Order: sequence, then structure tokens, then C-alpha cells
Amino acid sequence: MEKFYITTPIYYVNDKPHIGHSYTTVLADVLARYNRLAGKDVFFLTGTDEHGQKVAQSAEKSGITPKEHCDIYAKRFKDMWDALNLKYDKFIRTTDPEHIGVVQKALQKLFDNGDIYKDNYVGWYCVPDERFWTEKDLINGKCPECERPVTKIEEENYFFRMSKYQDWLIEYIQSNPEFIQPDFRQNEVLGFLRKPLNDLCISRPKQRLSWGVELPFDTEYVTYVWVDALINYISAVGLYFDQEKFNRWWPADIHLIGKDILTTHAVYWPILLKALGIQMPRTIFAHGWWMVDERKMGKSLGNAIDPESLVKTIGEDRLRYYLIRDMVLGQDASYSLSGLVSRLNNDLSNDLGNMLARVTNMVSAYFDCKLPQPAQQLDTETLKLHQVMDKLHKEVWENVESMKLHDALEVLNSAIRAANKYIEETQPWQLAKEGDSDMLATVLFTATQLLAKVGILLFPVIPQKSQELLTALDYQGEMSLSACAKDTLVPPGANITKPPSLFPRLHLNDLRKKLGVIIKPEEQKQERFAEGLITIEQLSKVKLKVGRIISAKKAANADKLLLLEVDLGKERRNLVAGIAQWYNPDELAGKNIVVVTNLEPATIRGHKSQGMLLAADDGNSVSLLTVDKNVEPGSEVK
Ligand code: ME8
Ligand code: MG
Repeated sequence: MEKFYITTPIYYVNDKPHIGHSYTTVLADVLARYNRLAGKDVFFLTGTDEHGQKVAQSAEKSGITPKEHCDIYAKRFKDMWDALNLKYDKFIRTTDPEHIGVVQKALQKLFDNGDIYKDNYVGWYCVPDERFWTEKDLINGKCPECERPVTKIEEENYFFRMSKYQDWLIEYIQSNPEFIQPDFRQNEVLGFLRKPLNDLCISRPKQRLSWGVELPFDTEYVTYVWVDALINYISAVGLYFDQEKFNRWWPADIHLIGKDILTTHAVYWPILLKALGIQMPRTIFAHGWWMVDERKMGKSLGNAIDPESLVKTIGEDRLRYYLIRDMVLGQDASYSLSGLVSRLNNDLSNDLGNMLARVTNMVSAYFDCKLPQPAQQLDTETLKLHQVMDKLHKEVWENVESMKLHDALEVLNSAIRAANKYIEETQPWQLAKEGDSDMLATVLFTATQLLAKVGILLFPVIPQKSQELLTALDYQGEMSLSACAKDTLVPPGANITKPPSLFPRLHLNDLRKKLGVIIKPEEQKQERFAEGLITIEQLSKVKLKVGRIISAKKAANADKLLLLEVDLGKERRNLVAGIAQWYNPDELAGKNIVVVTNLEPATIRGHKSQGMLLAADDGNSVSLLTVDKNVEPGSEVK
């Protein structure tokens, strides 16, 4: 059986999981599930990165041991992954004894091969990122990655000869275009590799930091966290202690990461593997960031969205769907609750939920819940829907393989829309009235097949709801891509049941209340504006006055236009109005009309117009707005 090994970053235990961490892990789960659906043997790895200065500091602050701190946080991640229904195969912790053993064996090997040497070190350290920088890397004296303050460090340390492998790496990246994905990230890495690579400081003296993996060749030191962390991808599958397992799974098919950790994965990691004589992973895929108000979502900026309360209010499947549908893989995406509500209401409540409700209701009403037998000869509408349906699984799988998951979901959603349209065009309720039971049966049978197919293909994204959908359709077949290749997924005679609403509509304001989201007055204004509402200030910008028509005549060169002279009290103005079809010039003089007086002057067919009159249009004729009583020209209308 073909294998598929996928990994997520192992997350720092200084933070409870937010939408960003959830995204990468959900994405890995969705890819893992699609690959299982395609019949592959899958190994999905995630975990936590537990050593380093940050953890030691946090633990000290809370008055607990680092290990106790890690246990608390590792559990938070596991609980969140359970709540999101993530089916990983292993959760690795860098404090696992097995992992520690592998890190030490690997370091010893590098040491024995002469790839590690001791030297004096002067550098700058960013604690939150656990990264070293040289003086010239810094931007305004701060970390070039996250702009936070750095600490100066000067001490004896061990170094890994990264520079030795620079040319090899450039050559490798250039000759393996699928190694770093998306393509533009390859160029970014190659750009970085144009400058000479420094050797990597891979140790910390214990007197400064003891929370780490002890160096096997010098017990006064612990290992730099990034070296420890990256090795998780090989220790998790048995390197140096279960060779058979290791051979089964390595090389990884995809290391999924966020773009924030591209250099460590695309430079440090391949060089470490090369020096250890281990094969390269097939692909390192860096996705973009979830942004809030155009800034990266994260703990340091205090704008992290908590997935836990979201899952409690909208359910894990809806959150999974939103994350996968609304991020174009590789690019940044912007998170907003209103965007989430409209996406989910449109795709899941209106399109999918509605389709399922329609079909199950009609099979129940017209065929007593038994799926009917379709006609032998298919009509054009039905054949058209078959065209959509027949290629569905292929299109979805192709998009998954090329990491276009948002497109995969769009393909499925457009199939649902096509099916809803099919129902509207064939009007089964009308067929029932007319007694055309052959066609009625065909429509409901065909729509059911399409729904079942979509249900299977959505399973990796919304596992729970997709099961409910397939249960309602009495689907008895297997959960696989190849099952989707069949024409009939649900045979005639199947027991169709009406399920409770799969995705009840969400209401933005309810959701805000439940989540305790406070929105800024600014945002509220923008939303109203988007709904077509304007504020009183906006309305008051329009200046309206009563104008008395002094004279009116037809425009020489335009038969729809009248030229009016209007008395506005303090001034007279000329207006051009498209009312020649509805009014004789003679009947207009003396009428008190309503004029917009602060509209930019315009020239219409060569005539100057210094304002606009108001008129009602009911589609058949046009009627001028006049005032009820005889008021003075120039009176304000407000
Ligand atoms: O970097 N949008 O751990 P970390 C999208 N321990 N994804 C985001 C995100 C956002 N706003 N914020 C975080 C580490 N992520 C190291 C990794 S691996 C050997 C060691 C996701 O806890 C994204 O996958 O800072 C990012 O790369 C990862 O969380 C960083 O997690
Ligand atoms: Mg980070």
C-alpha cells in the first residue's frame, strides 16, 4: 500500500493553541484524511516543542517545574485537537525519552564526523523565537523576524558546520522543484542562500539554561532547541531504534509549516539531514498567516482568536470548513467573524443543508422514504447533472494533490449549486402534481446520488456532518475515493430519513454575544455601511431645498431633456432634467419642487446643470416631488 507521511510543526508550549496553530493542524488532518480516502496508508504526526529558554522562564514565573508546565500545555493542545476531531497517529513531545535518545545519537554522529566544533560565541538571542542572530542581522537592534528585543550573549559554544553544505543545498533546491513549495518560497530561500551561511550554534551552557537535551559529548551543555525540535520528524518514526518503522515512513511526504519558520525548515533541516546521511523529505510546504486587522494573529500581538469557544458555539466541522475554504494555500488570509458567518451560511446552510433537506423531504413525502427507481432513459437536465457528478471525485482529488484545497471545496460547492438548480428547473413538486412519477423518481434519485458523492468527498473536511448526511441517505458503501467512481452510490429502495437541520443558520450578533466579542464603533459603522445603511451624518451631507420653477423649455438636441430655471430664494439656478417624456414645459412654471443643491455641477448634452431635482419613478411614469403647502423658495428640506 502506498504510504503518506505528513507532519505539522511541533508547537511551543508557551501559549494555548489559537486559530493559527489550529489551522496548520486541521490542514494536516484534512490532507491525511483525503489520502486515507485515496487508499493510502497514512502517518500523521503532530506534537509539542518543550525545551528552551522560554519554557524555563514561564515555568519559573508560575512557580512550577518546566516538566509540570509542559504537561499542562501539552494537554491543552491535545484537548483542542480532540475538540477539532483531529485524527493524528502520533503526538510527539520533545521531552519523550525516546526522542531525547535520538537527538543525542544524532549529535554524537555529527560530532564523530567532524561536523561539530567548539568556539567562542558572540551573538544576539531572541527568546520568543528561540533564534540566534548576528549583529548585522538585527533591524534597529531588534529581532529581524518579530521585531522584539534581543539579548546579547557571549560564551563558549558548539557549532555545526552548516556553511560546508551551502553549495550542496543550493544545488539540491534547484534540481528538486517540489522540495520547497509554493514556488515563490523557493526563490525566497535561494535569495537567503546568496549570502554566505554562518555555522549554527547548537549548544547552551547549562549554567545559563539547563532545560534541554544534554550534549552527549559534553555534559556542561544542552542542545539548542531548534536542533532538538527538527529531529522530531525522524525520531517519531523510529530512527535509530526501530529501523523497520523508519524505513516504512521516511522520507516524509509533506512537512507543513507556516511561513514564519521557513528558514529553519528549508535551510537548517536539510543540512542536518544531509550531514546525518538521511534522505530529504519530499516537500516542505509553507502556508501563509491568518491575519486580524492586517496583522499576524499571534500571542505576542494579543489578537489571537480562541478556537475553543468557537468550536463550542459553531461546532468543529464548521470551523474546519471555514479554515480550509477561506485560505488560499500559500497566501495570507484574513480572519473575521462576519466573514466566517457569511461563508458558512452560504455554503453550508443555504447550499448543502438546503439541498439535503429538499431531497429527503421529497423522498419522504412522495415515496414514503424509499428511494425510487429512476427512468431508463435520461432527460437532458439529468444528463447535464451527471456530467458534473461524474468528474467530481477526480477534480477534487487533483486539487487536493496540488494543494489547492480551497478550490477542491469550491468544486464541491458548485456541484451542490448545480444540483439545487436542477431541482428548481425540473420542479419535482410540479411533477408530483402532474403525476409524472418517472421523472419525479429520476430527479430525486439523481440528486441523492450527487449528495452522497459530495458527502464522501467532504468527509475529510467535515467528518461528523458528512457522516450524518450519509446516514440520512442510507449510504452503505465504503468511505473511499474509488466508491465515488460508481454511478449508483445509494440504490433504489434505500431508506431515506429526514435528518435534523445539518447546519442551522448562524446569526452574527448572536454569535458575538455568545463569544463575548466586543466590536469597535468603527467596525459597526463599516458593517452598517456594507448593509446599505448610512448614518445621520452621512444623510445630512445631502442638501435639499425647495425650488420654484420659473421657466422650462425643451433642450434643442436631446428629446428627453428639459431645461429648467429654478428660484432657490437667494439665487437662481439652471437644471437639466430627463422628464420631457412626462411633462410639458408649459405645465411646470410655478411648481414648488425639491432640489439637491450641493451636487457637483455637471454638463449634460452640452447644458450646464447646477443641481438635481427629485422625482418618483414607478416604472411606468415619472412624477416630480413637490411640497404639500406653499412654502418660500429656498426653504430647506430636512
Ligand atoms: O515555531 N497563521 O512553534 P510555534 C497561520 N516550535 N499559522 C500560524 C499562525 C498564524 N497567524 N500562528 C502560528 C514554532 N501558526 C516551533 C516549531 S517545528 C520543528 C518547531 C502556526 O508554536 C504555523 O504553522 O511558534 C506556524 O509555523 C506555527 O504555528 C508556529 O508555532
Ligand atoms: Mg512562533
